[in-house]
Parts: sequence; structure tokens; C-alpha cells
Amino acid sequence: MTEIPMPRFPDSFTWGVATSAYQIEGAVAEDGRGESVWDTFCRKPGAIRDGDTGESAADHYHRWLEDIDLMTDLGISAYRFSIAWPRVQPDGKGPANRAGLDFYDRLTDALLAGGVTPMPTLFHWDLPQPLEDEGGWMARETAHRFADYAGLAAERLADRIPLWITLNEPIVVTTYGYALGVHAPGKTLMLDALPTAHHQLLGHGLAAAALRAAGAAGVAITNNYSPAWPATNIEADAAAAHAYDILHNRLFTDPWLLGRYPDLSAFGVGEDGLDCIRDGDLEIIAAPVDALGVNYYSPARLAARPDSPLPFQLEPIAGYPVTAFGWPIVPAGLTELLSLLHERYGEDLPPVYITENGCSVDDEPGPDGTVDDQPRIRYLDAHIRALSDAMTAGVDVRGYLTWSLMDNFEWAEGYHQRFGLIHVDFATQQRTPKASFGWYRDMIDAQRSAAG
Ligand code: FCB
Repeated sequence: MTEIPMPRFPDSFTWGVATSAYQIEGAVAEDGRGESVWDTFCRKPGAIRDGDTGESAADHYHRWLEDIDLMTDLGISAYRFSIAWPRVQPDGKGPANRAGLDFYDRLTDALLAGGVTPMPTLFHWDLPQPLEDEGGWMARETAHRFADYAGLAAERLADRIPLWITLNEPIVVTTYGYALGVHAPGKTLMLDALPTAHHQLLGHGLAAAALRAAGAAGVAITNNYSPAWPATNIEADAAAAHAYDILHNRLFTDPWLLGRYPDLSAFGVGEDGLDCIRDGDLEIIAAPVDALGVNYYSPARLAARPDSPLPFQLEPIAGYPVTAFGWPIVPAGLTELLSLLHERYGEDLPPVYITENGCSVDDEPGPDGTVDDQPRIRYLDAHIRALSDAMTAGVDVRGYLTWSLMDNFEWAEGYHQRFGLIHVDFATQQRTPKASFGWYRDMIDAQRSAAG
């Protein structure tokens, strides 16, 4: 870690942490919660490493008060969590399950009482299973159901929430969930999964309107972004990187911000676009948003892939340290990415929040009980500096929310990847703030003191 002082961020800058419902809550059968696609997927033999499930996760549903105390100790100004759709509508449709909404109502009030602004995401991948049984995101109806659910959540909470995030990383739902089958619902539709992109986009647009109708102040959307690096300077690899950039960085963001799809010909889509698009959809999708949520973990390196329906393959990135997950640590990729978004969308780019950024480390308590996660401190320090570089270059970034508050259920990896500032012993549910927790707290505190 460099001794150079951390740059000053604007006084109003938001510092926070992020989590998601299925990854931390547990209590999957309590207070009327219905099943989600992740409950089902976890039961599928071989789907999750070591057969782990989110059944108890970090038991946040019962320990939320303790977790909020930890957040106030940390001194954050915002907490990004997700609302579990199956708690609010166990079947994915119909009236709200009061007990489900009560949980988020209590959470919201307690956060505000602790000086932490709640930033909920409405869909962080836990689709109610009954909706999946009717086609899930392959079905246009799901977009309408999502808007109904958004309206119910906002009717209850909008008076206290400044910024709502509709979807988390729809690109990952389309690719991992429906094309490749490594996430729930485990479909392997390859390029036939593309309608799930349009239906999520439409769901975002309809939900944004429902949120505003119910009094929501601000609406945002979050996606995952990665600079796309060609593996070599041969033309075929440049084309592969271009195709990846379209799929990963533009498939969702062009329709949101520009009201049109990028050229999808590399993915077998003709000039007329996806068959599932109807007149008027793009206007709904492109209604202005108040912020763009950017999740950044690492760049992607691409090579051409002959003999495959996919026009690229991912290649390892050599020459950088890696996280416990094996992801390369490239802080400058965050600066590159934000500059790219700034150049690409110009005036159409709304203010940006980094809604996720962090790393997994094989953290375990030492003999004295403390968790000395220096690699995470180095990671956060370098990425926050890289963020400052992008802001100096003119990108309007309003906040940084690290992934994650605490160790949690990391999807197909189960409990193997620890991303938290707080260590969780999943056998006892004991929470132990790691060294990075203290580092982040001190960094936030120093920013505040400098602001006076
Ligand atoms: C992101 C997800 C988040 C978490 C991190 C590590 O893609 O949005 O839930 O799993 O990766």
C-alpha cells in the first residue's frame, strides 16, 4: 500500500457497503416467504460447490440489528441491500405479504435512526420460483409482474428511500442464469437466452414508472462492467473484444441511456433486432434514470473463438496479482472503465455510483481471534485511488459501496469466497470485523474530518 495520502473526495460523497438478500438473510421459510429460483437451484446436485445452500446464509434475517450496529460503527453513509421478491410476493404476483414488507420497513427505520441511508435493490437474482415455472425472464409477463412488485415495495417504503435500484447485473442473469446454466435457474439456452435481456430491460422501465408513481424520489439501475481487452493484436481478437464489449457493457446500457440496442449481429441478431421487442418498449426502457450503478471487479481478456456460436472466449490475464477467486486485481481497469462510459455516453451518462467492488480473500481468524486481511486493504486502497483518478478526469461519481459488508453465500461458490469486511463463522454466526473494517472506517472518518 502506498504511503501517499488518500485523495480528498467531495464532502457529499457517499461511502457505503453492499449485500443482497439471498446471500445474507437465511430464514428461507419464515414469515410467509415463497421459494426463489435460488432455493430450487441449490437443491440441484452439483450446482453449488460442496452442496452449500442459502438456507441459513449469514442469518441476517434474525441478526439485522446487530448488523446495523456494525454498520454504524463503520461510519458508512449508505447501505445497499436487496429486497427479496419472494418475501414480498411469495408467488411472484398478487397482494403483498405484509410480514415480508415489515422486515424491510423495520430495517429501513433502523438504518435511518443510525444515520445510514438505505439503498435497496429490488431484484438481486432471487426470482420467485412460480414465475420461473411460467417462463421466468424468457416471458414478457415477468416484466409486468416485476413492476407490480416494485409498486408494492415503494408504496410501503418510498417515503424514506432516496434512491432505488431496480435490477442488479442483468447481464449476469442472462449469461450465467439462462445461457450457460451456472447460476439459477440453470438454463443452457446459449444465444436463445437473449430475450431475457429485453424482458429485464422492459421490467426495469416498467418498474421505474411504478416506483415513481408510488412516490419514489430517485431510480437507478446497476450492471456489471469490464473493460474488454483483446488477447493479442490480431484482428480476430480485436473483433472478439468488440463483441464482448457489446454484450457485457452495452447490451443493457445503450437501451437505458440511448434508447436503442447496439449492433447485435455478432450474436446472430438481424437488423430488425430481437423478435420479442414491441413498439413502445424502448421508450419505456429509456425513461431517464437518476443514477447508474457500476459494479466492477476486473477487466476481461478476449480471443476469437472459431467453431462456436459465441464470438469470443475469455482468456486468463497474466501479470497481475489475483484474488482468492482467481480474479485479476487491476485497479486501473476501474479508471479505464469509467472513462469509457464517460466518453461513450457523454451527457447521457447520469451520475455514477460504484455499487459493488471488492475481493475474496481466504480469511480466517488468527490465534488471537483477529482477521488480518491485508490483501483486501491493498485492494480497496488501490481501487479507491483509481476511482479518484476517474473523477479527476471528469467522471461524475457520487458514491462507492464496497462488496461486501460481511462474508456471505457466494452463489455457485457457496461459502468458499469470503468478500466481507466482517468475518462470519457460518457454524456459530459469530461476526468478527476484519482489519479491512478498521481501515475502511478510518478512511471514511479521515474524509469526513477533512470535510470539517
Ligand atoms: C457480483 C454480484 C454479487 C456478488 C459479487 C461478488 O456479480 O452482484 O452478488 O456475488 O459479484
